[in-house]
Amino acid sequence: MTERKRILTGIRPTGALHLGHYAGALENWVRLQKEYDCYFLIADYQVSDYADDIPRVRDAVWEVALDWLAVGLDPEGSSFVIESLVPEHAELTTWLSWFLPVAMLERNPTLKAEMAAMENPEDPNAERKAVPVAFYTYPVMQVANILMPRAHLVPVGEDQLPHIELTRETARRFNHRFKNVFPEPEALVGRIPRLLGTDGNAKMSKSRGNTIDLKDSAETVARKIKRMYAGPPRELDEPGTVEENPIFLYLDAFDPDTQAVAELKQRYETAGVGNKELKDRLTVAINTLLDPFRDRRAKYEGNMGLVREALEHGTNRMRVIARETMEMVRDALDLNYLEKY
Ligand code: TRP
Repeated sequence: MTERKRILTGIRPTGALHLGHYAGALENWVRLQKEYDCYFLIADYQVSDYADDIPRVRDAVWEVALDWLAVGLDPEGSSFVIESLVPEHAELTTWLSWFLPVAMLERNPTLKAEMAAMENPEDPNAERKAVPVAFYTYPVMQVANILMPRAHLVPVGEDQLPHIELTRETARRFNHRFKNVFPEPEALVGRIPRLLGTDGNAKMSKSRGNTIDLKDSAETVARKIKRMYAGPPRELDEPGTVEENPIFLYLDAFDPDTQAVAELKQRYETAGVGNKELKDRLTVAINTLLDPFRDRRAKYEGNMGLVREALEHGTNRMRVIARETMEMVRDALDLNYLEKY
């Protein structure tokens, strides 16, 4: 039997995961976990904006693991990995940082935006501080994360694509200059690359407080949807424009009955449909999606030992591969200094 190809993907432990994570990435992870040998990484070395608050990171590690288990990631077939418990990530980052020009990082649009936000006194979402050195090392570390298990595929949200490009470039350079150690990994973006926030703005994100979290109760979901932005004000029987009402984007994303949604759109644009009807329908659709997650989460919350085991076993599996990869890297770089005499 040939070995399964590998997936490495991850998330920074900053808190509860939301529908944007699900539709942009997690859904793919669940689907692909049978086909691939999967490594799901909790990237705690990379929470630069939270490093001042380690207790929060510690809580978030468990929070993320619970969310993963809740959506149906299988910790037996796949590996849940806590990044800093595999310190080879730091070691590989150090070596790779010699082969990545700073200019390449500075061109990276995600990083550029993050640094600009940090230094911008006007940005309400960013805690103002000087850009730490880690802002240059963390993208290299993400490259190291992906290369560590010699991954073939990286299913991520759209915002991560520049990082994958950096990884491909690094793999190419390394293989060309030393030895062919790393596959050039492909990126895979989910069904809904960027989900709007419940306030109708740009993107669902915790810092904007416009999320529907995977662990929200049915009542919380109903309440959040009731307050959702639903396009310009309209009378009940006034025809509207589907494109102006983001509730339809959500229905397209989360209501499996596409036929019924199509009819609703039709009626909305001719006779007019009240927002309450749309929102009630969306509430049912989202709660139907989240119900099995809630059940699974409750099961694990009642037995946190299982969550711990998932984290421990997955991390141990990654350690074995990390040692193997570091051997290959040391060999490729000819670092075995003691073998001279
Ligand atoms: N940077 C990613 C995020 O902010 C998390 C991450 C860290 C990651 N290492 C990774 C994603 C490796 C994919 C592959 O969500």
